[in-house]
Amino acid sequence: MRRIAVINQKGGVGKTTITTNLGHALALKGYRVTVVDLDPQGQLAASLGMFRPPVEGVDQVLLNGAELESAVINTRDLLQLVSAGNNLQQVEELRGGGAARASILKNALEGQFSDQDFILFDCPPSAGILVSNAMFAADEVLIPVSGDYLSLSGLAKMMMTLKRFEPYLEKPHEKWIEMSRVYPRRRLFREVCNKLLGHFPGQVLANPIKEAAVMAECPGVGRTIFEYRRSSQSAKEFEALATDLLERRTM
Ligand SMILES: Nc1ncnc2c1ncn2[C@@H]1O[C@H](COP(=O)(O)OP(=O)(O)O)[C@@H](O)[C@H]1O
Ligand SMILES: [Mg+2]
Repeated sequence: MRRIAVINQKGGVGKTTITTNLGHALALKGYRVTVVDLDPQGQLAASLGMFRPPVEGVDQVLLNGAELESAVINTRDLLQLVSAGNNLQQVEELRGGGAARASILKNALEGQFSDQDFILFDCPPSAGILVSNAMFAADEVLIPVSGDYLSLSGLAKMMMTLKRFEPYLEKPHEKWIEMSRVYPRRRLFREVCNKLLGHFPGQVLANPIKEAAVMAECPGVGRTIFEYRRSSQSAKEFEALATDLLERRTM
């Protein structure tokens, strides 16, 4: 089972979009996939068409020790969701518990979902205890980076955050960078791309995701790109992203 945290403390880079559509892409290829919403804003459920998700989700696991498997909702063939729940923000606000608070999710995964091929964690745009839980629960991180200079400086910060976890992990995370929301015809794209390849050789996944109106439309209708525009360029890009991850194919 591969456990992948989709993280970036910057908002709007495509974390939720990638969790949703990569998740469905993998399910359509026949893999069993669970997506877990760790963002208190809870938008992962809506992007899968659940506009009124259950009030209890992963929040109960983190706050009250509920079983992870009891919070599962089937959304598509082979694709299941653990939604955020209404009280996920409380996890950030709790005091006490020390370092153990960061391993609750990892411990809750013990012996659960053994039939699943992939677990994807959709992280909030922050660097608090929810992200720490994702970091300890995951073996791999997938960092969407949008194609501008500001996101490059954010990425440097992100990598330092990741480094700080390493002494506490059994082994370092496998790290993937996915160029997201890019405009390939802009000169800036090439520049950002070259910088990424220079700094993170062997970690930038081969196929970027382009900025596209259809991608912005999907969450509003609660459908993945494979349901909304099966033959679009964007659908091909998400399929390629799934293959990149499966084959560990980088630029
Ligand atoms: N490739 C894309 N092209 C166009 N719009 C996108 C793309 N990826 C994401 N978006 C839109 O940008 C907004 C932010 O994306 P989201 O996935 O929610 O980012 P994050 O989870 O990192 O905050 C959403 O409205 C989403 O629909
Ligand atoms: Mg999000």
